[in-house]
Parts: sequence; C-alpha cells; structure tokens
Amino acid sequence: MAAENPVERLLSLKGEVSSLPFPADEKELDALRVKYLGKKGAVSVVSQEMRHVPAAQKPEAGRLLQEIRTAVEGLVERAETEIKRNRVLREIENEFFDATLPGTAPEFGSAHPISAVMDEIVDIFSGMGFQVEEGPETESDLYNFEKLNFPPEHPARDMQDTFRLTGVDKILRTHTSPVQIRAMEKYGAPLAVIAPGKVYRCDADVTHSPMFHQIEGFVIDKDITMGDLKGTLQAFVRRFYGQDAKIRFRPSFFPFVEPGAEVDVSCVLCGAKGCRVCKNSGWLEILGAGMVHPNVLSAAGVDPNAWGGFAFGLGIERLAMLKYGVDDIRLFFENDMRFLRQF
Ligand code: DAH
Repeated sequence: MAAENPVERLLSLKGEVSSLPFPADEKELDALRVKYLGKKGAVSVVSQEMRHVPAAQKPEAGRLLQEIRTAVEGLVERAETEIKRNRVLREIENEFFDATLPGTAPEFGSAHPISAVMDEIVDIFSGMGFQVEEGPETESDLYNFEKLNFPPEHPARDMQDTFRLTGVDKILRTHTSPVQIRAMEKYGAPLAVIAPGKVYRCDADVTHSPMFHQIEGFVIDKDITMGDLKGTLQAFVRRFYGQDAKIRFRPSFFPFVEPGAEVDVSCVLCGAKGCRVCKNSGWLEILGAGMVHPNVLSAAGVDPNAWGGFAFGLGIERLAMLKYGVDDIRLFFENDMRFLRQF
C-alpha cells in the first residue's frame, strides 16, 4: 500500500465513499461503520498511514482524509436518523389508534360527606362573623366537665360514655363544649366562636359511632338574649336547609347553659307533613343550645355580671344523615366507595 501514491489512494477512497449506497437498516449501517470507521476500517487505516506521506503532499492528503471522514460520518448520521424515524413510523402504523374514541377521564376525588357538611356549616357561621377555633381531642376532666358546670356525680362522666386514657389523667373529649372555656380563657370577652371537631363516646349502633363530629358555637357579649340565639339559629337553618325551614325550641337541660333548650327544625324530608324519619311529628331535633351559665363564664375568667352569652352544639353526622337521607351512621366511616361516590 505504502508503495502506491497516497494522494491517489485517498482520491479513489473518496470516490468510493461518495457513491456508497444509503444503508437500509441497522445491519447495513453497522456493516458500513465497521468497514470505514472501525478500528481496522478504511478511514482508520489511511489516517494511520498519514505519517508516511511525503511532506509536500501532506496538506492535500490531510484535506482529502478530512473530506472522506466527514462524508462517511455524515452518511452514518443521516442513516441513523432515517432508520430511527422509519422504526417509529412503523410502530405508529402497527398501533391501533382511533382519534374518534373518547379519552379516558381522570378520576376525581371529592370531599367526604362529613367534611363537606362541616365545611358548609363553618362557612355559614364564618359569614356571620364567627371565628373558627379548635381544641384538643384529648382533654382533662377539668375542661370537659368541671369548668362546664357538670356536678361531680353527673352521669355524663360515667365510664360507659367517656373513654379514659390509661396512664395519664386524660379523657377523649365527649363534646366540643370545652372549646368554650379554652377560647374564653385565651381571648376574653366579647367573642363569637365556631369550633368544629371530633368527639368520642363509648357508644355504637345505627345512630351512634364511638367517634363523631360536632360543631360548637357561642357568642359572649353585653346584653345577649335568647332572641339573639334564636335569630342566629334561624338564619343558619335557612341557609343550610332552605328558606322554608323553621325552628322551634323545647326546654331542656345541659349543665353549662341556663335556660337550656333542644332545637328542632321542620322536617326537611317530608316538608313537615309527617314521615317515618320525623316519626310523624313534622319536626327533627338538630341541636342543643342555651344561655351560657354564669358558672361557666366565671370558670373561664369572664365576669358574669358584665357579660352574657349563648351557646349551641350540633352533631355533624346527624345533620348529614338528615340532609342526605342516610339511615345508618356507620356508612360514613366504612369508606365503601359505592356509598361515598354518591356525594
Ligand atoms: N355539648 C352538648 C352535647 O354534646 C351539646 C350542646 C348542648 C352544646 C347545648 C351546647 C349547648 O353549647 O348549649 O351533647
């Protein structure tokens, strides 16, 4: 080889390279790569021989070598792109694709009915100027009972109802009323608070769950009357159940209010005509309420001679059951998607 004129040999290699057929597939492309660019390929061989080229011919030989290398590398590159493109096109062709088929809709989650009802109630009271407060779910007897004017022998303290934590002097709160005390101690008077949260009672059947949700509401101010309580609840019930919803108060007893009342709403299921759910009375009990007991104000550091207030507490599950016509409270907590998807 070295005997031949190197420039001539480069010229003939250039001619060969310029008329190379375009590789049709990976196999032909690989063969081409090996033949010219591989370790023992033609381009590699001639570049090794460059050192034997006489000095006078070096510039020309170098230029030719560069042209050859560029030509082969260019061809390889174009072939790579083309072969890859053809492969993708073939794949697309073989794939079944119908642009007229509807797409797969992504699955959307939605709020749990209990959360939805709770948010709605909190929204209504926030709109009336109530501030949202929360209290701890593990409470002391002091806040859950004593400061709320429960006499020491009151049946609500019974082990049957209250979950007691072992090893610590704590219970799981049985209602959201302790937030009344905590908020008054924190902010003093005047005050308007709505306090949503979980509560616990050792009780389980179709209308009772050991964990359920309540919302406590209360207002502390000067010259608060039962008329304020009634007006507030009437406004709430109209927003929640509709303009035709009416309320009525029945006298009742809760240690932390005096006077106390149970509040009914006109049956939303039968339009107060009388049905199975309202036991033909036309009324449904939805909450407890009353005027905050002076002992409760004192226990929370608020002067009962200067301030008064009203309070109410309602059970979310009960309201949700009545709103959606659900007859078993346990459905809310079983997380059966067939049930939850209906909301
Ligand atoms: N805490 C009571 C319960 O869980 C509900 C209640 C009744 C709250 C009357 C009040 C109220 O604020 O005035 O049964």
